[in-house]
Amino acid sequence: MSVLIKGGRIVTASDDYVGDVYAEGETVSLIGESLDVQADKVIDASGKYVLPGAIDPHTHIEMFFGGTTTCDDFTSGTVAAAFGGTTSLVDFCMQAPGTPFPEALDNYFEKIERCKPVIDVGFHIGVTDIEGGGGLDALAKLPDEGVTSYKLFMAYKGAVMVDDETLFKTMEVARETGGLVMVHAENGDAIDVIVKNAVAEGKTDPIWHARTRPMETEAEATNRAIQLARVAGCALYVVHVSCQPAVEPIALAREKGWDVWGETCTQYLFVDESALEKPNWEGGKYIYTPPPRPKEQQEHLWKALVTDDLSVVSTDHCPFNWPEQKAINGREFEKVPNGGPGIENRLHMLHHFGVRSGRITLNRFVELTSTNVAKRFGLYPRKGTIAVGSDADVVVWDPVKELKISAQTHHSNVNYSLFEGTEVTGAPEVVLVRGQVVVENDELVAEPGAGRFVKRARAGEKLTAAGVQEAVPA
Ligand code: URP
Ligand code: ZN
Ligand code: ZN
Repeated sequence: MSVLIKGGRIVTASDDYVGDVYAEGETVSLIGESLDVQADKVIDASGKYVLPGAIDPHTHIEMFFGGTTTCDDFTSGTVAAAFGGTTSLVDFCMQAPGTPFPEALDNYFEKIERCKPVIDVGFHIGVTDIEGGGGLDALAKLPDEGVTSYKLFMAYKGAVMVDDETLFKTMEVARETGGLVMVHAENGDAIDVIVKNAVAEGKTDPIWHARTRPMETEAEATNRAIQLARVAGCALYVVHVSCQPAVEPIALAREKGWDVWGETCTQYLFVDESALEKPNWEGGKYIYTPPPRPKEQQEHLWKALVTDDLSVVSTDHCPFNWPEQKAINGREFEKVPNGGPGIENRLHMLHHFGVRSGRITLNRFVELTSTNVAKRFGLYPRKGTIAVGSDADVVVWDPVKELKISAQTHHSNVNYSLFEGTEVTGAPEVVLVRGQVVVENDELVAEPGAGRFVKRARAGEKLTAAGVQEAVPA
């Protein structure tokens, strides 16, 4: 199968030019002006942007959490992702305490075997218990399976939270294996005390979710993780940074040249803590962690995305139906499964409110949602760019297409949207994964199974169409 995408504005993290892209099989084989080639399928991209497929490095698909399981499986979750222009995701393979790491991985391979994805999928390992996982050697072997990032939670005491010993030991393993340590950075011990005090005083409405997780508890854990990573000598990636006090230690570390990266998520740019006060317990929809912050924090996050203090925008898609799942344990904030949906609308929101409003350039839009993710998570240059030899993961983006975001029309199984009713201009017209059309003109074209598991590279390696290779320093 060959595809010719003709006359589009090809935008990568560094380039912006009009041309044709020709893919033969799964990879891009020619890029040029007015290419004289025959193709099985020709896509007229004039007036459209031709972008590298977006990559979402932070999703929770079919994850058991808070007494229930997120309501998207790897079919529905990846279909929703594809409709939004995301062609790969890296999901958290959560190790239940006591489960050997290989078994935890097998559990996730079973999920993608049973519910086949339509886009490519990789896994991070969610470390909760090193001993039960098989010890440090077992942890060190995971990058050989293409699982090259370790995720640890510094919060959720009594559930998935790890202590500093576990965090630090994992960091030492990562130094040796070239893996990346990812942290959910909040001080879980302090938050646990604050939550218990609030609950004892009868303060259990959703707004107390935000009031019991002060920004300083995020800042403190962010700084602690950075300092520990520095001592251990590993690379660190801080997920879902929600506020300026947590950006600051990341900015300082990066200024010093330390290998520290920060990510924020779409919802922190648009939803503020007042959402938790919506009447009729609708505030429960917005119980995700870290919580939505005061509105003024949003401008700090936008600024950090411009200065590269924050380098990635992910979704932290963690969908629970409202109110059935959100209220499964009761309507007190501390019992609500934490998480919010968003896998489909990251590009819509960033394009409309970021690019069109002049906050970020088109190149930066690509960098934040695709290229930086590919580089940081061992997918580059196979993914994250449009270049000869790269996977033909391409989004033909219509910059003037209008869309009203709504749970009535989105493709996730979840029954609400954090951005309900928002009107945006700009949406995908065609989405290709490795040369195969998955979405075209608002129709799903591919069958489940079009996507596959991707083994990722570690530090010092690069991923090409031929597989993982040693990186040659420039
Ligand atoms: O509330 C959230 N973010 N739920 C998903 C788990 C996590 O903390 O990322
Ligand atoms: Zn988290
Ligand atoms: Zn998450």
